[in-house]
Amino acid sequence: NRTFFFSRHGESEFNVLGRIGGNADLSSRGRKYSENLAKQLGGPGSNPNGPKPRLIWTSELQRTIHTVQNIPGPRTTLKDLNEINAGICEGLTYEEIQERFPQEFAWRDQDKLKYRYPLGESYLDLLQRVDGVVQALLLNTDVLVVSHQAVLRCILAYFKGSSPEEIPYVNVPLHTLLIVKSYGYDFKIETVPLKV
Ligand code: F6P
Repeated sequence: NRTFFFSRHGESEFNVLGRIGGNADLSSRGRKYSENLAKQLGGPGSNPNGPKPRLIWTSELQRTIHTVQNIPGPRTTLKDLNEINAGICEGLTYEEIQERFPQEFAWRDQDKLKYRYPLGESYLDLLQRVDGVVQALLLNTDVLVVSHQAVLRCILAYFKGSSPEEIPYVNVPLHTLLIVKSYGYDFKIETVPLKV
């Protein structure tokens, strides 16, 4: 039996502004989340008998790296865990995208799975990108993966058995630890919301 821990990064300054992509740092609530997450996973103030990740994998972006900063364990940054590349829409709000690129906005709404941002990626691209990460996860146990909304939708789809069409809409809330346990070929997901 294997256990995996998943979380989005704590709230970022871009989340506060409703801007997508970029490499913003954590907000004050996001920093609070990094402390609370550490309390669940072997960091300062944690239960000595509680779970401790053997490996910690983040994206290359500072909001995921800073989210795990209080958690003990060997860390690795993986480019494949970076958030969906929104190409020409990076750094914009959804309202700004609708104003500046109304056709793009409509196309994404029509087929969010296949829609690829100009100079960026689609959910189908992401599914390919995370395949290697999922394979590597399944060779390990007690791995903590801290990544981003779209990428986690794709990774969790594997464990939830989601259909491709529903993947871009899977709810992966901020400030929530997901604990996935495998029982042979079956997976159970526990959702642990953490107060910030
Ligand atoms: O808003 C946070 C974020 O991680 C963005 O960086 C990213 O573009 C977006 O979520 C992905 O979600 P959706 O595919 O629903 O736009």
